Order: sequence, then structure tokens, then C-alpha cells
Amino acid sequence: MKSRFFKNLTETQTMELARQTASLLPEGANLALCGDLGSGKTHFAKGLGHGLGIPQGIWITSPTFTLINHYQGADHKFYHADLYRLGHEDELFEIGFYDLVKGPEILAVEWWDQFPGTYPEQIIKVILEKVSPITRNLQIQSEHPSFKAEQLNLL
Ligand SMILES: Nc1ncnc2c1ncn2[C@@H]1O[C@H](COP(=O)(O)OP(=O)(O)OP(=O)(O)O)[C@@H](O)[C@H]1O
Ligand SMILES: [Mg+2]
Repeated sequence: MKSRFFKNLTETQTMELARQTASLLPEGANLALCGDLGSGKTHFAKGLGHGLGIPQGIWITSPTFTLINHYQGADHKFYHADLYRLGHEDELFEIGFYDLVKGPEILAVEWWDQFPGTYPEQIIKVILEKVSPITRNLQIQSEHPSFKAEQLNLL
């Protein structure tokens, strides 16, 4: 497992790291966005979306009520899910979630860690921790052999 840790990121830095992460993602990458309520998972997903080339005018919103939103990036489709309101992991079959996990699209999922037994082998975890109202610690743990987390750099 490859792991990177970033301390006391500002909101802008979190966004910048998400954009960089997007540029390094291999086709079909699956990301679990982990952290408490308000830690910045949706904020990070917005940065991923922008890094994948979703036009700035398109608003990436929290899929808490829709479960899964999808967007067309420059080279990849981007799916952003939030499993907070999912009652049971069996429902993941019903909504076609595993097709997305196996498919070529980029999948970023909030609250996937409620069902860690459903992680694929090559999961990339982004763990956000609220340090203060305006700062976050961010850890990236990758089980994906082609994700080069060491290339991430704060400017
Ligand atoms: N350093 C920071 N990094 C990321 N977000 C920050 C930072 N400082 C402040 N914020 C703010 O924190 C809020 C995080 O909200 P966000 O919706 O991303 O959380 P979430 O983890 O998705 O929560 P939920 O579990 O409810 O979906 C955003 O409004 C964001 O602007
Ligand atoms: Mg959210």
C-alpha cells in the first residue's frame, strides 16, 4: 500500500490536491472518500471533477439524496456517489453500483466506509480529518498499482 499524508490543508489546498489526484487517476479508479460530516468529502469530489475536465460552469453537488451523480469529463466519465442514506449494502446491487466499480469510469464515493466489505482490491482511500474550521489533514492510501501518489505536491 502506498500512502501520503498532508497536514493542515487550507480549503484551496484541498481543492488543488484533488485536482492533482484526478490527473493521476488510472482508468476505472475507485476512490473511497472518508471522514466525518463536514470534513470535506464533497469539496474534494468537486476538485476531482474539475481535474477530470468537467467544465467549471457545471456545479458538482452533494449526491446525498440522489445517491449517484454522473458527469462527463475530458477523457473519463466521473461518477460521484454518497452512501450515507443507503440502508443496506444489498441495495448496491439494485442500483448497479458494482458495474461502476468494475467499469472504466472514475468512481468517487462518500461514506463507502460504512460497507468496507464491498471495497474492490485496488481501492484508493482519501481520508479527511477536520483539524479546525478552516484546516484539514488528508491521507491518501492507495492499493492501486498504477496510482502514483508520490507525484502529488503542494505548491
Ligand atoms: N481546509 C479545508 N478543506 C476542505 N474543506 C474545507 C476546508 N476548510 C473549510 N472547508 C469547508 O468545509 C465544508 C466541507 O463540506 P463538505 O460538504 O465537503 O463535507 P462532507 O465531508 O462532504 O460532508 P457530508 O458527510 O455531510 O457529505 C465545505 O463547505 C468546505 O468549503
Ligand atoms: Mg458530502
